Amino acid sequence: MSKIETIAIRTQLERTQYQEHSTPLFLTSSYVFEDAEEMRAAFSEEKERNIYSRFSNPNTSEFIEKIAIMEGAEAGFAFATGMSAVYSTLATLLNSGDHIVSARSVFGSTHSLFTKYFPKWNISHTYFNVNEEDKIESLIKPETKILFAESPTNPGVDILDLENLGRIAKKHNLLLIIDNCFATPYLQNPIKFGADLVIHSATKLIDGQGRVLGGVTVGREDLIREIYLFSRNTGPALSPFNAWILSKSLETLPVRLDRHCENALKIAELLEKETNAENTKYPFLKSHPKYEVAKKQMKLGGNIISFEIKGGLEAGRKFIDNLQLCSRSANLGDTRTIVTHPASTTHGRLTEEERLEAGIKPGLVRISVGLENVEDIFSDLKRALNT
Ligand SMILES: Cc1ncc(COP(=O)(O)O)c(C=O)c1O
Repeated sequence: MSKIETIAIRTQLERTQYQEHSTPLFLTSSYVFEDAEEMRAAFSEEKERNIYSRFSNPNTSEFIEKIAIMEGAEAGFAFATGMSAVYSTLATLLNSGDHIVSARSVFGSTHSLFTKYFPKWNISHTYFNVNEEDKIESLIKPETKILFAESPTNPGVDILDLENLGRIAKKHNLLLIIDNCFATPYLQNPIKFGADLVIHSATKLIDGQGRVLGGVTVGREDLIREIYLFSRNTGPALSPFNAWILSKSLETLPVRLDRHCENALKIAELLEKETNAENTKYPFLKSHPKYEVAKKQMKLGGNIISFEIKGGLEAGRKFIDNLQLCSRSANLGDTRTIVTHPASTTHGRLTEEERLEAGIKPGLVRISVGLENVEDIFSDLKRALNT
């Protein structure tokens, strides 16, 4: 089988009669049929083919196929955003009365699903702290259905041991769902460690250029079938245009990621050695509490670094105001370096107590290291820290 760089480039739809080299964009909402019999066969799924772009489209199919092969998954479905992937996946699989065990440190909107919306449907959750994996088994109840985690986590860049989570999920017959957004299919494949489903916000490093939103869930075919049927009826599908962009973006994912990770490691080392930034966290820094686990499950350390600024909230905001090159933005995984202050932005809707429990201190800063010259990025950060 081809290597991941080749899969990302060469997995492609069959060419049309025009023999195009690059996949064309199929901007069509629906598809035509020769006769009533062909239509019946398509709707009854006797014949696999495109019917309507809320169900499938050639561009979304190409994008899904690439991600599925890169992740080692049997099947997948693509969504309009990462959050619609998270929501639709969980809403498909959970019933009233079910329970989720999740790492406490999850993306702010995922946390809102668990705490504000799922309780409306009598779906409960229990969090475990990222450094307390040994407590997970004691939190599992008879009604627990899903074990959920991100690794690395947003925004703290903590690492969970996927092999350990896979073992626990198997032992207790739970579905293991991993949000693999910070790692991408190039750096980490959770299915190898026992995940049943893997979710990505394709908006981040998969697009990689801050242009489009997208999401995808890949994994076990029987579960994807359920997710497909739910999504076909509820309508969160990825648009063909965004799928076309994202599929093209995947062709350069490995080269982009190599440079993102090289820049990020260098910046993390310099922040630790040459500045007063505290508690610099990057998965491939030797000082990371889970360095060995990160090395075991990731190819490289990713492009996200977190650190704390002495002086808390005010000092954090001042640092961000002092930046001249790096962008102040809430996105991540762009060619451009982006600096975010989670306590006042992405995780601003959490209570102060919830933030502290999730390890988000008032002075925590998250950097998504881009592809600019690494010395230029570092000098901007250093100057902003010292001003
Ligand atoms: C880990 C993680 N999961 C999911 C999402 C949601 O993705 P989207 O913004 O594409 O809905 C994000 C967004 O930042 C994220 O960081």
